[in-house]
Amino acid sequence: EWWTQERNQQTPESKAIEEAAELLRSSDLPVAFPTETVYGLGADATRSASVQGIYRAKQRPSDNPLIIHVDSLEMLDRLLNPSSHSSPNSTKTPPITVPSIYKSLIDRFWPGALTIILPNPSGSELAPEVTSKLTTFGVRMPSSPLARLLIHATDRPLAAPSANASTKPSPTTAQHVYHDLHGRIDLILDGGASGVGVESTVVDGLCDPPAILRPGGIGIEEIRKCEGWENVTVAYKDGTLDVKEIPRAPGMKYRHYSPKARVVLFEPTSSPSGVVKHVQHDLRDSAIGAHNIGIIRTRNWKLGLELAPEAEIASTVKPVSAPIEDLISFPIPVQETGNPSSRTKMAYDVYIGPDTASIAHGLFAALRALDDLDVDVIYVEGVPDQEGDLAAAVMNRLRKAAGAELRA
Ligand code: TXA
Ligand code: MG
Repeated sequence: EWWTQERNQQTPESKAIEEAAELLRSSDLPVAFPTETVYGLGADATRSASVQGIYRAKQRPSDNPLIIHVDSLEMLDRLLNPSSHSSPNSTKTPPITVPSIYKSLIDRFWPGALTIILPNPSGSELAPEVTSKLTTFGVRMPSSPLARLLIHATDRPLAAPSANASTKPSPTTAQHVYHDLHGRIDLILDGGASGVGVESTVVDGLCDPPAILRPGGIGIEEIRKCEGWENVTVAYKDGTLDVKEIPRAPGMKYRHYSPKARVVLFEPTSSPSGVVKHVQHDLRDSAIGAHNIGIIRTRNWKLGLELAPEAEIASTVKPVSAPIEDLISFPIPVQETGNPSSRTKMAYDVYIGPDTASIAHGLFAALRALDDLDVDVIYVEGVPDQEGDLAAAVMNRLRKAAGAELRA
């Protein structure tokens, strides 16, 4: 009958999810998939060979642990009680539950951009490579329906770091993943652009007071409102890390979020005349090698013309929901006066503001787009990060991308 035919007909989406799930169960090459924060590079978290595939594809240092993704609290429960479905004696010991401090956060933010740290149980099914020798693991339940369907279809917890090549800005589209990892992975599930644009907030409730290990998609002020989290401390550093200090989230000691270009971040308190002077100086100084520049504006910077009066930088202000390619104005050559030896310069102006949600959404895509245009320097307008929302995550990523090049 027509309806049985209909019922058995798979949609292209469900076929793609099935194919990805089958690869995750059987292949040792990772599969990239969309989440609401950034794209993840997934592997079956219970199989060492497949988890090793993640580190290999990304060229990630093996002492940087991965985040586990679950589709449900039931899946997390099974992870915490590895023997209960195999051993008949398990009824004698009470089941391990998620520590109660996390209840308020899970109720409020799951599924979503929040990763919690839990003790890895004895007899854990997690491959040891996932936790890279820590006694804890990080876990989150993504809100992306495609991500959750994939985990459900695979029927395994998925280990997944961001699906970029190590040190590069995290990917927020399937094209970004392809750019960094094609040839190294089996498949990319394309779910369009990630909505949030920065990674999940990582919190540790196993210590007292609880701590934020990485700022991210859930604002610190939001977390502070939850029961048990009123006194949460900030355990990350934005600036150049002191190498003598052991970071609590191992990923934080590495070079991160870096495009090829130099990134110069101006703190939001920078005086406009100071910014103009700095950019003009770079443009005139051929020793710096700034032949092509990119400008990422967020809020207050006016058009590029003001930044570099000798340059005519075109600017188009478009809604941030537009693809990033459309946000980039066509290049206009900068006329260099009095320096006949210098090359023609190009300036590209990208506007990703004004609110922090759109800045977070467009940030990594803007850095990547300017890299593709081969700019030598990217000047970025910072935002105040005391606002308690995504601004802290945005400035954290930018300070890391800029390395030592922070301008007051
Ligand atoms: O939004 C996200 O979290 C994305 C998507 C794909 O879910 N994933 C992500 O993973 O950003 P990754 O690997 O790029 O970042 C994981 C961070 C690292 O800073 C790592 O050191 C930290 O989480 N982490 C993982 N397990 C940890 C643990 N047991 N204790 C402390 N930090 C941990
Ligand atoms: Mg990452």
